Amino acid sequence: MEYRRLGKSGVQVSALSLGSWVTFGDQISDDVAADLMKTAYDAGINFFDNAEAYAGGRSEMVMGNILRNMGWSHETFLVSSKVFWGGQHNVRPARPNEEGLSRKHVLAACHNALRRLQVDFLDLYLCHRPDPSTPIEETTRAMSDLVRQGKVLYWGTSEWSAQQIMQAHLVARQCHLVPPTVEQPQYNLFNRYRVEKEYANLYTEYGMGTTVWSPLASGFLTGKHRQGAADGTRATTVANLGWLKNNFERFAKSKAEQLAKLEELATETGLSLIHFSLAWCLKNPNVSTVILGASKVAQLTENLGALEAMNKLSPDILQRIDAFMPVDSWL
Ligand SMILES: NC(=O)c1ccc[n+]([C@@H]2O[C@H](COP(=O)([O-])OP(=O)(O)OC[C@H]3O[C@@H](n4cnc5c(N)ncnc54)[C@H](OP(=O)(O)O)[C@@H]3O)[C@@H](O)[C@H]2O)c1
Repeated sequence: MEYRRLGKSGVQVSALSLGSWVTFGDQISDDVAADLMKTAYDAGINFFDNAEAYAGGRSEMVMGNILRNMGWSHETFLVSSKVFWGGQHNVRPARPNEEGLSRKHVLAACHNALRRLQVDFLDLYLCHRPDPSTPIEETTRAMSDLVRQGKVLYWGTSEWSAQQIMQAHLVARQCHLVPPTVEQPQYNLFNRYRVEKEYANLYTEYGMGTTVWSPLASGFLTGKHRQGAADGTRATTVANLGWLKNNFERFAKSKAEQLAKLEELATETGLSLIHFSLAWCLKNPNVSTVILGASKVAQLTENLGALEAMNKLSPDILQRIDAFMPVDSWL
């Protein structure tokens, strides 16, 4: 395993990490979730990603039970939660203050995550989306207080604009608060703009790290959805993912040509499309960790091979990718 600093912070995160969205507490059994985490930990993965909203809070509970049963020292792993949609998400509508980034909900969601994950502190605690109805100063102050209380080690954002992240840094500087350390954006061959262009100054000016999500575009970059949403996958078996099924149906037509070119280049490079796509994410030095998703242990084991694949992506291959996968692309 390779370890990278989370931006300019001193904490080391494995270049590949494991997330629980869709899978834990929903698509897969708790036993498979435990096998996934054990496989990941044994391979040197030290970061497990979670959120209050995943499986309406069940994802955190499942992960918490596994962490307790495995008996790993918290010194050896990082665990995250994210706040915004509430722990009732996709189960019932939120009551006032059960969602968003107010001080009230940020603190409540942190306490819920600590209880569900059965840990004394969250290593990373992220604002899952921007909240237009809460001032950034209020959220920054709430996060900063949690850090000072020792309940959170590093706080951050997910899918905030560069401008919103800069605002949080400015408020923190003016008010002597703890600034965000990390952003969690989508990043894959089809979604490049934010990580490569919009955030460019955040790495150099503010030392932000990134924990990037959906490196395989939810599975589209495995190639298995090339005829539309494949049977037995998240898009066809998990409730509330009708939007993803529709996306795959659309991409099967609109992205067919690019997918075929990627497969061709991957084959020429001697890599599977999966290794090629994951290694491409890992090649970006501003990516602190690539969060893998997997519904089967075999998928995770296969994906771990992406680390070795990195050295096959020469500057020439990267340039040839750029020719048909433009940086300003957005799925
Ligand atoms: N901050 C945010 O807003 C946000 C949003 C999304 C995700 N995330 C985080 O990022 C993590 C990763 O995202 P993701 O799960 O979308 O990642 P992904 O790598 O794009 O997709 C993972 C899915 O692709 C399929 N897959 C993976 N490896 C495969 C293989 N070797 N062969 C065949 N199929 C394979 C599996 O789905 P099937 O079961 O369909 O086969 C797997 O669950 C999440 O768990 C979550 O922690 C964060």
